[in-house]
Amino acid sequence: MKHIIPALWYPDGKNRDVTGAAKLIRPGEYIRDIFKAATGTATTARGWVKTRRDSKGVTFIQLSDGSTFADLQIVVETGTIPENILKDVTTGACIAVIGEVVESPAAGQSVELKAREIQVYGAADSTTYPLQKKGHTMEFLRGIAHLRPRSNTFGAVYRVRNAISYAIHKFYQERGFLYLTAPLITTSDAEGAGAMFSVSTLDMMNLPRTSEGQIDYEQDFFGKKAHLTVSGQLEAEIFALAFSNVYTFGPTFRAENSNTPRHLAEFWMIEPEMAFCDLDGNRQLAEEFLKYVIAYVLDNCKADLEFFNKRIDDTVLATLENVAGSDFAHVTYTEAISILEKAVSGGKSFEFPVFWGADLQSEHERYLTEETFKKPVIVTDYPKEIKAFYMRLNDDEKTVRAMDVLAPRIGEIIGGSQREERYDVLLDKIRKQNLPEEHYWWYLELRKYGTAPHAGFGLGLERILMYVTGMKNIRDVIPFPRVPGYADF
Ligand code: 4AD
Ligand code: MG
Repeated sequence: MKHIIPALWYPDGKNRDVTGAAKLIRPGEYIRDIFKAATGTATTARGWVKTRRDSKGVTFIQLSDGSTFADLQIVVETGTIPENILKDVTTGACIAVIGEVVESPAAGQSVELKAREIQVYGAADSTTYPLQKKGHTMEFLRGIAHLRPRSNTFGAVYRVRNAISYAIHKFYQERGFLYLTAPLITTSDAEGAGAMFSVSTLDMMNLPRTSEGQIDYEQDFFGKKAHLTVSGQLEAEIFALAFSNVYTFGPTFRAENSNTPRHLAEFWMIEPEMAFCDLDGNRQLAEEFLKYVIAYVLDNCKADLEFFNKRIDDTVLATLENVAGSDFAHVTYTEAISILEKAVSGGKSFEFPVFWGADLQSEHERYLTEETFKKPVIVTDYPKEIKAFYMRLNDDEKTVRAMDVLAPRIGEIIGGSQREERYDVLLDKIRKQNLPEEHYWWYLELRKYGTAPHAGFGLGLERILMYVTGMKNIRDVIPFPRVPGYADF
């Protein structure tokens, strides 16, 4: 059976059929626009069928094109649409509906679309279509990542992800920051932590060897050992020392074997870097930035946030409104440790020990933000031993000008610092940490030619998304998660 040839959408906004004749009265629209249209408007809705329900004399179709949380209700009066077309209008099918916007008697929606004509782009076998109306588990949805974007939950996640990404660029562009695209392939380790993926074209079955029996990377694609970047920070520092204020926004990669709900092997990071800025300025920017992004989402993703609040975590909306309107707490690492030590002597038990010099674990971070302060907390001035080589040494010579922003439920969402801008101090740290000095020659040279105090931080996009949406697993806020043992799709 041949369906009517569907009308297509053209960039000029006019609908035409395949003969090129303007076909429809109103240009192709998103369903979110149809919700705002006046009754009586003739229009076309295109999308994927969520559900279909037949009752006496009428068929109801819920249609989604991803443009907004709500589905558009299509009303088909029996007899209007030929049965041979209607039989293909089942869950999962992709269709166009030409019709008229009418007032909806149904609760919770203002208008619906009364179908005059339906065209089927692609039918879907409803007996095997994996995405059914009944709620699916997040694990199940991960296994069908090619269809997951059509689910209510992931649809809402992705619209919020899009809005946050836009708000991030808007925030920095409004403040005159230059957008830097840092390289993804690199030959230096920005964090000095060694958790990097290799990039190589060498034949693994037949590796070239040096006379000492080592792998001969001189014969590799880049003539030396190369990796996927863990952070664009070092390159951002180069640019900050030329353009004053810059930010990166791109993917970063970590080969740490962390099978947790908060870690990905590939995640997106935003890294502002500011010349003429110290740790206090850094802290203020981080707070202003998070509040801006949250306020933007509250203003622009209302329906999606209401869904998260209703179905995922009923504290999400109150939390976001609270954060947008209150100041973050600030403690030094030393103060944080004494708060935790007091908690321990008061009977609180942690899995990991608490003492000055220990790294804060997720449970400690969550205690500080969920129990002590009940809002985001910025912890600064960590012991130098547990932080990266590039952080500026304090006068006590024991702590560095580090800063972590901790959020309830998530723990760390931002890590940053004032950078060590003094050549001798930096060189000493690189040597003491046994890092390969020759890899950092240019980073050191920046401290020789026109150095300046500077600072910056990194926000994990997926971590802020978890915070904003209430989603429990980081794998459900990125389109195609990469984690140990899994990189499908
Ligand atoms: O604290 P991190 O490692 O800091 C840096 O990479 C610095 N170079 C940033 C800077 O100062 N420019 O990472 C920054 C943030 C973390 O706070 C967290 O939100 C996120 O990146 N992050 C991860 N997100 C998901 N999966 C992982 N494996 C992550 N590792 C870090
Ligand atoms: Mg960190």
